[in-house]
Amino acid sequence: MDFTEILTAAGQTDLLKHLESLSGDARTQLERDIASQDWEELKKLHAEKSAANLSDNVSADLTPMPFKIAVDDLRYDFWKETGEILLGKGQVAAFLVAGGQGSRLGFDGPKGMFDIGLPSHKSLFQLQAERLQNLAAQVGHSIPWCIMTSPLNHEATVTFFRDNNFFGINREDIRFFEQGTICALTPEGKAVLDGDRLALVPDGNGGCFRALAQSGTLAWLVERGVQYVFLYSVDNALCRICDPAFIGALAADGRALSASKVVHKAGPQEKVGIFAFQNKKPGVVEYSDLPENYRDMTNADGSLTFDGGNIAIHLFKISGLRKLQTSRLPWHTARKTVCGIEKCWKFEQFLFDAFPQLGSMLPFGVVREEEFSPVKNAEGNDSPKTAREMIGALHREWLRKAHVEVNPKMLYEISPKISYAGEGLTRRLFERELGRNILEFEE
Ligand code: UTP
Repeated sequence: MDFTEILTAAGQTDLLKHLESLSGDARTQLERDIASQDWEELKKLHAEKSAANLSDNVSADLTPMPFKIAVDDLRYDFWKETGEILLGKGQVAAFLVAGGQGSRLGFDGPKGMFDIGLPSHKSLFQLQAERLQNLAAQVGHSIPWCIMTSPLNHEATVTFFRDNNFFGINREDIRFFEQGTICALTPEGKAVLDGDRLALVPDGNGGCFRALAQSGTLAWLVERGVQYVFLYSVDNALCRICDPAFIGALAADGRALSASKVVHKAGPQEKVGIFAFQNKKPGVVEYSDLPENYRDMTNADGSLTFDGGNIAIHLFKISGLRKLQTSRLPWHTARKTVCGIEKCWKFEQFLFDAFPQLGSMLPFGVVREEEFSPVKNAEGNDSPKTAREMIGALHREWLRKAHVEVNPKMLYEISPKISYAGEGLTRRLFERELGRNILEFEE
């Protein structure tokens, strides 16, 4: 690689000078960092973003995407059975995007290692692993699990899994891979240095399609005969991983290449993206990009017009993922202090920007209390405390529905090992498992 030529053409002569001042390991490291970046793209990005208004605000042609709560649909049981058959044939994989930095939570380590304070003290990773295993046992087939990390948390993630014996999952069924990074730029467009290295940050969860393909994981899935990939975020404590009904609904839809779970927004101010058609193409508009008049718009009955909240649970047909491996997603920008330099440019891609490129998509409405409890902040909204309360209340409701007499003042934690989504609970089981796989707690 001719660093002089590349860096000169990209206007990065300061970086070139710094590289030339180094020797030995430090030089090799920086060369490696430089080689990992697309300098032409970075130059173009800086020029475009500094010329444009920073806001990624949406255009005027925005219409809501209607959706129905799936469990109320007469076809729900049929979808569920179809999904179970597909899972049983090994045609479904789980794909966890866990390359984020979790800065709002303030936990020093991969977010999946975080213990949200349930009586069992299980980490988010363990809760997911157990749910996946339970489902795999029910359908009689293993479920491949792809886990995307970033260079910042890869080692720690893999070590955690290894130390926990992969939570009992067969090692061959899990595949870890790293997402890409992108260099932060100074306000003038120069590469930011972190000591003698480039200041590289993960390229956003939208980097997942590229990383899935480039790491060989997409080919690995194709080889295993996978047709549906369930993609989810690390921090939703209620995520129904590989939900059979969701899979069956997409399988039954002849047109859509993807499906997404949708909840009714808690209110206009809730910080979730919304599903909408923009210039007739389906997709998600991030809350920060949604103009206020759309955000607050109501229907004749007073309900919100743009009401379909994105909970970051998606399902892709493998043909959709193949299409996305080469497509280019837009870059979003943030101006932040990086390595002591104010107003640096940080770039990232969002995975929901893939939807307009796929054309038709299937919105699948779900009940928030059953499926959405994100752990974003250390305290307040969307925190470990709210997740504990939601899990505790939901599991108490599962028991109540199973005619188990419970203490209405207490909350319950039911291990995903004994119930995936509330099924199979009986009074006898409750009595046997209380204190073991069923734990009572107060919040
Ligand atoms: P968030 O948008 O909540 O970001 O990620 P975050 O980095 O986890 O948390 P904050 O904003 O710093 O507090 C949603 C999902 O996307 C993943 C996260 O790991 C999470 O599962 N993600 C985010 C990636 O995989 N890569 C990224 O570059 C960014």
